[in-house]
Amino acid sequence: MFDYRQYKKNYFMPPTECMDWAKKESVDKAPIWCSVDLRDGNQSLIEPMSLEEKLEFFKMLVKIGFKEIEVGFPAASDTEYQLVRTLIEQDLIPKDVTIQVLTQAREHIIRKTFEAVKGAPSVVVHLYNSVSVAQREQVFKKSKQEILDIAVEGAKLLKKLANETEGNFSFEYSPESFTGTEVEYALDVCNHVIDIWEPTANHKVIINIPATVECSMPHVFASQVEYMHKNLHSRENVIISLHPHNDRGCGVSDSEMGILAGADRIEGTLFGNGERTGNVDIITLAMNMYAQGVDPVLDLSNMPEIAETYERLTQMTIHDRHPYCGKLVFAAFSGSHQDAIAKGMKWREEKDPLHWTVPYLPINPEDVGRKYDADVIRINSQSGKGGVAYILEQSYGLKLPVKMREDFGYAVKAVSDVQHKELLPQAILDIFEKRYKKYMPVFDIVECHFKQQNGIQTTITVESEGVKTVVEAGGNGRLDAVSSALSKHFNVPCQIICFEEHALQDGSDSSAIAYVGIKGIDGNSYFGIGIDPDTIRASIDAIVSAMNRSLEIASR
Ligand code: KIV
Ligand code: ZN
Repeated sequence: MFDYRQYKKNYFMPPTECMDWAKKESVDKAPIWCSVDLRDGNQSLIEPMSLEEKLEFFKMLVKIGFKEIEVGFPAASDTEYQLVRTLIEQDLIPKDVTIQVLTQAREHIIRKTFEAVKGAPSVVVHLYNSVSVAQREQVFKKSKQEILDIAVEGAKLLKKLANETEGNFSFEYSPESFTGTEVEYALDVCNHVIDIWEPTANHKVIINIPATVECSMPHVFASQVEYMHKNLHSRENVIISLHPHNDRGCGVSDSEMGILAGADRIEGTLFGNGERTGNVDIITLAMNMYAQGVDPVLDLSNMPEIAETYERLTQMTIHDRHPYCGKLVFAAFSGSHQDAIAKGMKWREEKDPLHWTVPYLPINPEDVGRKYDADVIRINSQSGKGGVAYILEQSYGLKLPVKMREDFGYAVKAVSDVQHKELLPQAILDIFEKRYKKYMPVFDIVECHFKQQNGIQTTITVESEGVKTVVEAGGNGRLDAVSSALSKHFNVPCQIICFEEHALQDGSDSSAIAYVGIKGIDGNSYFGIGIDPDTIRASIDAIVSAMNRSLEIASR
């Protein structure tokens, strides 16, 4: 039954208007980041990670720069219990990193949790219970007061056990399913918990507002957060944390707007892993800040390595279009995009190397370990002359004359149109060489001599269909003399319209490449290339290829 009438609005607006956040323009400071990959992320995997895999993941999170890491729900899983013990006993937690553990507000679970974290240098014990209408009515069948009592009793026990247990503890409370809860009621529960914990400036508590299931537009969530921010007790000693899930695909917006509304901290995961549609993707959030000139305080410069480790350990795949890290997110196939990117890169190089304003690319792909040649300009039937010229230059150092680009662009398009697939740099080079290099279906110049006499005189031997003919002609330069000789021999125009050459490799044995364009019998342009250590030979080979194509087309 695909019937929208079975659904209705399932969230609550705060009792007073809370829209101050909307007057703010952007996030200008990174929040405190807390990774919940090893708990929320892990619990949602088809095959949860092993102890060894979790340790590797933990090390990656530390390397990225997370200072707060939720490592598990130790009372719920033996592997998570073992992970916590291993981290503590093997002294694997860096001094500036705090681990976090989750516990339900139930006595035996809280007690087991404290057993797990005994001796930890610094640990956040994260207490939660569900407070939403649906959970109260359908799951727990308890009144508001009874649900409040669960939170209060849990908070009291945390305080007691923290005093009795060896270690350095701080507290976090989450009103789970906040987004399906009357906001005033969620606030009341949180304030009761705060009153029990009595936070101070030196011992703050975390109130974590989860969008356990995302059920409204982000501006509604932001208003709810602002209401909490304005009404929580002892606000100056409370860190407001957000824990957005992504059911409506707005986890990032929830977080960004929530920060504007007063949140100080974000719980999320790499690449948005997590229950159902996942948790908020910290990578996108952090990179959004980075792309606006805000220090994200996380080092995401080696994105390919982070992505590889994540995919290997979680057995999840990152979508090709995942912001900032998908395989295709910097790729431009369209000719006009490629052209604008190539021009933008040149502009930046010449005019403003310190700032990134290149069209179509929100950030410099190199900042996150990506490469221009492999990742940015990609060739298929949508691509244009700028793109293929760019690939030849980036991948093979071939600097195509501007006049030649259109001809080559069409040649590549013709192939990709037929093949219906992307052309990699090697395939583009193959098309280039096949079309322009030693293209001699009609004739070759098998001998060529020059002498200086009233300009340059040349004597060339043209071989065509096994017959050799010696032709003499003069010109302003050697290439000009050869073009005159060819024109004379074939009795058709061979006017040079473009000639460029450059060295191909560094070093003494370097070859040169010559590009020659001629105006043919039909008035169209024809091109050829020659590659030879001798630049004259290279340019003669180039004109031979160009003239061959012109004659061949004329004979059709
Ligand atoms: O999504 C959620 O509400 C949670 C809580 C345990 C914080 O993961
Ligand atoms: Zn969650």
